[in-house]
Amino acid sequence: MSTDPIVVLEGLRVARGGRTVLDLPDWALPPGGHAVLLGPSGSGKTTLLHCIGGLIRPDAGRVRIAGRDLADLSGGALDTFRGQTIGIVFQTLRLVRALTVTQNLQLALRLAGKPQDAARVHDTLTRLGVAHLADRRPHRLSVGEQQRAAIARAVVARPALILADEPTSALDDANAAAAAALLKAEAEAVGAGLVIATHDTRIAGAFAHVLRLETRA
Ligand SMILES: Nc1ncnc2c1ncn2[C@@H]1O[C@H](COP(=O)(O)OP(=O)(O)OP(=O)(O)O)[C@@H](O)[C@H]1O
Ligand SMILES: [Mg+2]
Repeated sequence: MSTDPIVVLEGLRVARGGRTVLDLPDWALPPGGHAVLLGPSGSGKTTLLHCIGGLIRPDAGRVRIAGRDLADLSGGALDTFRGQTIGIVFQTLRLVRALTVTQNLQLALRLAGKPQDAARVHDTLTRLGVAHLADRRPHRLSVGEQQRAAIARAVVARPALILADEPTSALDDANAAAAAALLKAEAEAVGAGLVIATHDTRIAGAFAHVLRLETRA
């Protein structure tokens, strides 16, 4: 495995509506490292995860993932790189409504350029306790079940980096802690780096790397 950090952030700054919402010291995560991103609501957790995932471009600074500077990748190349390298659990989950749970995972494999693998899809759903829901569409799952399906989709293609934005409003703290534990186990199983955003400071103790965001005036 490469010894390059899986994530490098240098001089990162993001402005929204004329206001700086993110201004970070340099930060790096070693390959396979697990980090928690802590901060109150509005401190920029989602903004930062979207920068790391190449979904938004920072106003200043750079993001390097597995040695690649995201600024060097244009639209299509960035989408391909993201599909192959990064699995994302969005705060709003973003499962594809028109597809079943299984088909959502199959789509993730396709976007990663990996061959279809029914056994891998089934095993992943089984580990996350949602195999019995494989043929349902997402809106027929509870929010907790949807979250586990979204975690399954993020890990099925064995990404080198998993980004997870905790849906804090929908889950109580016990379920949020369970989701964090599941994500850690899944990241370990595939040797992936993990960055998980949460407002729950109790989760931080379980992580070797902590990145704290403050609310900006
Ligand atoms: N499209 C936008 N236009 C203007 N400001 C925005 C926009 N999106 C986010 N912001 C602002 O950027 C800041 C950071 O938002 P962000 O969603 O990253 O916070 P967060 O830490 O993820 O919060 P939460 O815990 O509630 O999910 C907030 O102050 C928010 O109001
Ligand atoms: Mg957020």
